[in-house]
Amino acid sequence: MSTTDDFRESGLTFPEGFTFGTATAAYQIEGAVAEDGRKPSIWDTFSHTPGKVANGDTGDVAVDFYHRVDEDLDLIKSLGLGAYRLSIAWPRIVPDGTGDVNEAGLAFYERVIDGLIARDIEPVVTLYHWDLPQALEDRGGWTNRETSYAFAQYARVVGERLGDRVSVWTTLNEPWCAAYLGYANGHHAPGIRSELASLQAVHHLNLAHGLALIELRKVVTKADARYSVTNNLASVYAADPSNPEDVDAKRQIEALRNRAFTDPQLRGRYPQDLLDDTKHITDWSFVEDGDLELIHQPIDLVGINYYNTDTVRRGAEHSTEGTPFPGATRVEWAPQPGPVTAMGWNIEPKGLYDLLVSTHELYPEYDLVITENGAAYDDVLVEEGGERRVHDPERIDFLQRHFVAAHRAIEAGVPLTGYFVWSLMDNFEWAFGYEKRFGIVYVDYATQVRTKKDSALWYTRLAETGTIPEA
Ligand code: FCB
Repeated sequence: MSTTDDFRESGLTFPEGFTFGTATAAYQIEGAVAEDGRKPSIWDTFSHTPGKVANGDTGDVAVDFYHRVDEDLDLIKSLGLGAYRLSIAWPRIVPDGTGDVNEAGLAFYERVIDGLIARDIEPVVTLYHWDLPQALEDRGGWTNRETSYAFAQYARVVGERLGDRVSVWTTLNEPWCAAYLGYANGHHAPGIRSELASLQAVHHLNLAHGLALIELRKVVTKADARYSVTNNLASVYAADPSNPEDVDAKRQIEALRNRAFTDPQLRGRYPQDLLDDTKHITDWSFVEDGDLELIHQPIDLVGINYYNTDTVRRGAEHSTEGTPFPGATRVEWAPQPGPVTAMGWNIEPKGLYDLLVSTHELYPEYDLVITENGAAYDDVLVEEGGERRVHDPERIDFLQRHFVAAHRAIEAGVPLTGYFVWSLMDNFEWAFGYEKRFGIVYVDYATQVRTKKDSALWYTRLAETGTIPEA
C-alpha cells in the first residue's frame, strides 16, 4: 500500500457488500423525446429556448439510450458493477402531469429494470431528476402545491408496476437544484428568477418527497425494497474559522443548501435559522398544518451527491436577486484553491470526507450512500493499434482520491453503503449541453459509439476486487 497525505492511497478494501455503481438521468441519456406517448417536460421547453443551453444543445437525441437499452445494459454488466442508478421520466408515464397513464412509458422502464435484474445488476430508481411535465409548469410548477400531489400519484403508478422488483426507490434528485437553479436564478428549467418562488419550490419538493413515500409504501410489494432521497449537500467552510461572523455565514449557507431539505425530510421541521434568514422574502405560510408530518416519512438511505466545496465569509450587504441563495445578502464566496475540473469546480476529496462525517453527526440513525461523484474533463478519443482509447488519468486520480475519502469516512464510523460514479457515459450536461463529459465511458456523439475510458477500466478493477487499485 502506498500513502500520501493527499488522499492518494491504494490497497484500501471496502467492506463486504459495499455497492459500486454508476448513475445517469432520463433526460440526459434517453433522447426519443416525442416517442411512444412522451410529452414535453420543462427541460424540452428550456433547451429549445434560445440562449438557455450551451450551443443550443437539447436532449432530443441525447445518447439515444431509448433505442440502445440492451447494448448499454451489456456495457454496465461488462464494467462489473453491481448497481445502476437511473431515473424515470415522469412525462413518459403521466405525460400531462396528471390523469392518463401512458402504458408505453411503463413498458419501457419495465424492460430496463428487467434487463438489469437479468444481468444481476441492482436497479436504483430515482423518480424525479428534474423533468417536470410541462403541463404542470403551465399551472405553476413547483410553486403550486398541487404538483406535490401529482408527483405522489405518478409515484404510485410506477410503484404499482415496478414495486415487485426495484431494490431502492429514491424520490428526488437534488431538490436544491430544482428549487434554486430552477426558480431563483433561472440557470435551469423552468428558468424563473424569483426568490419567493424558489422557497415555495423548496417546500413543495419536500412535500412531494413525503407524499410519494406514502403512496409507494402502499403499493410496493418487494419486501426488502429500500427508500431514499438524494440531496446535493454542500460541503461548506468558513473563510476564517476563528471569526464568528464567517462561521455564521457558513451556518446560513448550510441552512439554505442542506438543512432546508434534510431537516424536514429527516427531522420533521424547518430550521428556525432558515426561517429567520428568509423572513424578508416570505413568512413561509405556504407550509400548511400537517405538512411536516407528511414530509417526515421513514427512509432507509440518505443519498449524497458531492462534487466540490464552498468557502464563505460575511461581507457587505448586497442583493441576492438572480442568485441561487435567497436571503444570503451578506454572504460572500471566497475563491477555492485549485486544481479544478473542466467545470471549474475545485477538486477536494477532504470535502467529501468532512461532509460524510458531518451528515452522520447530524443524522446518525441513517445509512448514507454517495449517489453521485465524478468529474468532467476534456477527453480525447484516440486510435491506437486499431483500438479506440480515451486516456483520462485526471479522472482516475479524482476518483481514486474520492474513494479514499469515502473509505476513511467508513473507518471513522460513517455507515456508508455504496458509491455511484457520475456518470456511466458522457451525456447532456444540462445548461452546459454536450460540452462537458462526465462519463467513464466516452460517447462519440456523431456515431453514438461508446468507448470505455481508462477510468472505466480502473473502476472495474475496484468493483471486482473491492480494493482501490493503483492509479
Ligand atoms: C448533478 C446532477 C447530475 C449531473 C451532475 C454533474 O447536479 O444531479 O444530473 O448533471 O450534477
